[in-house]
This record gives sequence, structure tokens and C-alpha cells, in this order.
Amino acid sequence: MSRLNIVVGITGGIAAYKAVGVVRALVLAGHDVHVVPTEGALRFVGRPTLEAISRNPVHADLYEGVAEVRHVAIGQAADLIVIAPATANTIAKLAAGLADDLLGNTVLASEAPIVIAPAMHTEMWRNPATVANVATLRERGVTIIGPAVGQLTGTDSGPGRMEEPDAIVAAALARVDASAPGTRTDLAGRRVVVTAGGTREPLDPVRFLGNRSSGKQGVAIAEAARARGAQVTLIAANLEVAAPGGCDIRSVSTTLELQAAVTDAARGADVVVMAAAVADYRPAEVSESKIKKQPGDDGLTLELVRNPDVLAGLGHAPHEGTLLVGFAAETEADDDRLIALGAAKLEAKGADLLVVNRVGWAEGFARDDNRVVILGNEGVLARADGSKMSVAHEILDLVAPRLHDRAAGSGEEPARPGPTG
Ligand code: CTP
Repeated sequence: MSRLNIVVGITGGIAAYKAVGVVRALVLAGHDVHVVPTEGALRFVGRPTLEAISRNPVHADLYEGVAEVRHVAIGQAADLIVIAPATANTIAKLAAGLADDLLGNTVLASEAPIVIAPAMHTEMWRNPATVANVATLRERGVTIIGPAVGQLTGTDSGPGRMEEPDAIVAAALARVDASAPGTRTDLAGRRVVVTAGGTREPLDPVRFLGNRSSGKQGVAIAEAARARGAQVTLIAANLEVAAPGGCDIRSVSTTLELQAAVTDAARGADVVVMAAAVADYRPAEVSESKIKKQPGDDGLTLELVRNPDVLAGLGHAPHEGTLLVGFAAETEADDDRLIALGAAKLEAKGADLLVVNRVGWAEGFARDDNRVVILGNEGVLARADGSKMSVAHEILDLVAPRLHDRAAGSGEEPARPGPTG
């Protein structure tokens, strides 16, 4: 991607300290970053910090630099505007088109794509005024990233946390990529199904067997595919991250629900990416009432039954014209043995590509970065190491040409029978 002129607007919320990470990542990615903080933001982060990190002077005052018409010049020169964090107040001002500070003027004077990362308390996010303002901005084409669900500034938690800097940067750059004419539209018109998250198998009304998958990698793949022009169905299993906009989202919880949703969505799909961590077993019985301790017992034995293997089910049914991408979560430390396990899984499940992921107590899950090996029938095709968004694009870089091959190979649009035949 060529060097972009990016305006980072920072507004007055505690998450302003995390905006420094957004600025830094954009600068390290080679872009020319101009920070426009509000007065409120400068109460949370100092101007010297922002100047040092952005490597550019930082202006906040509407009445400075009048001779160079700064109130419109910054916005006119921008290729992209990122506002992180965006407070409820700023979102309201943007929706109303107010320009009572330098950031408001910059936004109004710009034709660049806008990406905002809201951050506020849950009540403010759910307030009908904020809901209406966010809807207005979405209608105008503003990309909203987050907010994430989690611990807020006080003792409360819920939706309202600003998304992590890495996710904001990835969404912002993907937005420019998608808006740049002629770039990376290699999935235009394709139907892509992605599963993300981890399935949960209930034991009783209050407990489940689950896993540590947050859904970040699957969501990044869905976002990346959408940015490259695909029509995306996201089968979302208990996501711990916000689902991306612009995708058809189908929420599921158990393996059987995921299987039904994928089987339905896979009919006529060009690609199915099985990034979700799917439970192999479920309790033989689900108790209708809470399982109670029994007086004097010293343990509890649960009986589990096997779940279907969803990917193998798709892989072993006729699926001409549908490329199947599996994942493999392995704790194997040795690289060669890790690849051998992945190759065996690719073969056993009838997948076309398999993304092998080393997981462990501190690896793989819930992090913003990932390190994978991508296998095809011919062996190792690529290794990818970086943000989950960059890994997503590397996977799609291998998917896209294989789709063209298939269509070209048949000499016509491929027939795509459903995965169950
Ligand atoms: N998968 C699936 N259905 C299952 C289990 C896994 O579709 N019941 C899919 C996953 O979505 C992933 C791939 O199969 O794309 C590999 O998942 P993984 O958990 O690594 O492997 P398992 O098949 O469960 O094998 P094992 O647990 O024995 O390593």
C-alpha cells in the first residue's frame, strides 16, 4: 500500500491513552500521520507524546494557523480519517455535522473515508440518542469498529471498551484498500462462508463445556473477505469480539447448531472457512435443572458423546466448486511434527487448504497476532506471522487464485451442489 496521509482524531475519553498505539502502528506501517486531538483528549494524553509518536506537529486550536486555512487544509489533504476513541459526544457532533473545534472542521472539510472506534460506558452506547447517531453515521458510509465487550473504566463491564489498536488499524487500512478503485477486489461476487468463535455444549441451564477461542481470527477473515468484495456469511459461535458490519451474521452456540447453519450457508458458496473451534464431544444428557452437589460425593463423572465432524462432513460430500479451508489447533511444539499433524488433518477431512495454528496457554487464543502455516495437498504453501488481519489476507491470497482456477478449469461457472449432495 502506498504512503497515506492519515488524520487520527483523538477525543476526550480514558481510552485516549490507547490511541497512542493506533498512531504508532500507522507510523510504523509507513504512513504520514497527523493527530488532531480535542481539548478533552489533551487532558488525557500530552501533546509532546502525540508529536513524538506521530513525528508531526500536533494542532488542536481552531484559531491557530489561520493564515494557512488549517481548519480545512488538514481534512482536504487526508486520504483517511480515523477517530479513536470516539466519545458519545463526538459521535453526536459528527452525526449533526457540528464544527466547533478543529476536529469537527477537519471532518466536514474532508472527502476521505472515515473510521471511528467508539468508547464509552454501556449505558451511553445503548442510549437511544447514541444508537440513532451511530445509525446515521453508518448510513453515511462511516465504518464503525467496535466497541468491544469487557471491563470499563470503573467497576462495570459490558459493550463500550475501545477496540484494540491493532484491530482499529487493520479495519482502517482495509477500508482504504476497499475504497481504492481496482485494488484487491479479487473476491468480488464470490460467496464466502466463515465460521468463527468456539462452540459451547450445555450441561445444565447454567453451565457449559467450551473452549478459549475468541473468534478474532475468523472475524478478521470475514472482514478481509468483505473488504475484497465478497458477500460474506459469518457463522458466529459465542464471539468475544464485535461482529463485523456488512456481513450476514448467523449466531449459533453448539456444534449441532453450527453444523446446521454451515450446511445451509455452504450451498452455493465459493469458499467455506472453518475457523471456529468446534467441540468434538457434548454431554450425553443435558440436565433441565442445575446439577447439585450430592452430600458426601467426592467427584462427578460426566458422560460425553461424539459430535459430528462438520468439516469432514463437508469434505467427504460432493462439493465441487466450493473450496474448503480448515484450521488445525495443535499444541505440538516441534515444527515438523506440527506440519505432519496438519497434513494428516487436511487429508482426513477432505479440505483443500488447512491453516495450522500452534495453540497453548499463552499462544493463539484471544491475542491480536497469530503465526500459522498454510498447507495444501502439495505441502506447505505459506507461513504467515503478524496481526490476525494480515494473516487473514495471506490466507485469502491463497484462496482467491484457487477460485479462479476452478472457474477457469471448468470453462464455465462451476455447478455447486450442496455439501450433503
Ligand atoms: N472441526 C469440525 N468439527 C469438529 C471438530 C473440528 O468441523 N467436530 C473443524 C474445525 O473447525 C477446524 C478443523 O476441523 O477447521 C480442525 O479442528 P481441530 O480442533 O484442530 O481438530 P479436531 O478435528 O477436533 O481433531 P483433534 O481434536 O483430535 O486434534
